[in-house]
Amino acid sequence: PRVTVLAGGLSHERDVSLRSGRRVAEALREAGCEVTVLDADAQLLPRLAADRPDVVWPVLHGAIGEDGALRDVLELLSLPFVGSRAAACRLAWDKPIAQSVAAAAGLRVPASIALPQATFRDLGAQPVLAAAADWAGFPLVVKPSRGGSALGVAVVGDVRDLARAVVDAFAYGDTAVVQEHVPGTEVAVSVVETAGQVLVLPAVEIVADGGSYDYAARYTAGATEFFVPARLPEDVAVRVADAARTAHEALGLRHLSRVDLIVTDAGEPVFLEANAAPGMTETSLLPQAAEAAGHGLDALYRGIVESALP
Ligand code: DAL
Ligand code: MG
Repeated sequence: PRVTVLAGGLSHERDVSLRSGRRVAEALREAGCEVTVLDADAQLLPRLAADRPDVVWPVLHGAIGEDGALRDVLELLSLPFVGSRAAACRLAWDKPIAQSVAAAAGLRVPASIALPQATFRDLGAQPVLAAAADWAGFPLVVKPSRGGSALGVAVVGDVRDLARAVVDAFAYGDTAVVQEHVPGTEVAVSVVETAGQVLVLPAVEIVADGGSYDYAARYTAGATEFFVPARLPEDVAVRVADAARTAHEALGLRHLSRVDLIVTDAGEPVFLEANAAPGMTETSLLPQAAEAAGHGLDALYRGIVESALP
């Protein structure tokens, strides 16, 4: 098939997307696909209209690509594409909404509150921050309600660091989330659809060198230790895989996603978020899980493309 890979875009994760897109394109070429790589710029729509590829694979992280906006356009153009439809992307992209969908599907989620910037304007920063801190206790987690690659995410140990963390989160959007810090093991579970089958790949356990799986820990080779499959007892591994599949299905995601969870010391999976355009770089989690499960990326990505063909 002729595949157009979209990579780059305008989000904070542009560089990550370029790296992800390059890897996906390489693997698809190895698998015999005819691949064009396009950026999401002013030329995109004329190029897509002229090329009419068999399928488009938007390897775009963050806004435009992962939030559903560009996929709305692909749907309007009736172009088949890899990955979730626009409506599902919108649910997954907004962390509080995704968590409420996951909770309705029976998954445990961290207690969290969304703090729109307007709250601060209307009530004043100090009372809002004091109430949030009181409610969550320390440590707590602050993050942008929409975003990726851990940009703007902070674990806050005491009240003096809270204001700065919230301001940092606002750099990425107009709503910050203050969330209960759930102690446990950080895992990521990728779900892929190939040859008409939904595969839940083995959980990847993440142990970041500095303790925090931040942007540098994600994209610097060797900065994070990964265990695939995660070092979990068999019954817990099954619960974790089930939780990932439940989240994927409840959010209406398709073809590929990555669900990020914390596994508590009691073995309970806690849903953090689902990624509709998971990282596909050299250090990313989905490719590691696929390879550990014995799937060559060439064949797997081609299988995902075939799932998206009409
Ligand atoms: N947002 C990054 C790319 C990820 O989820 O892997
Ligand atoms: Mg994410």
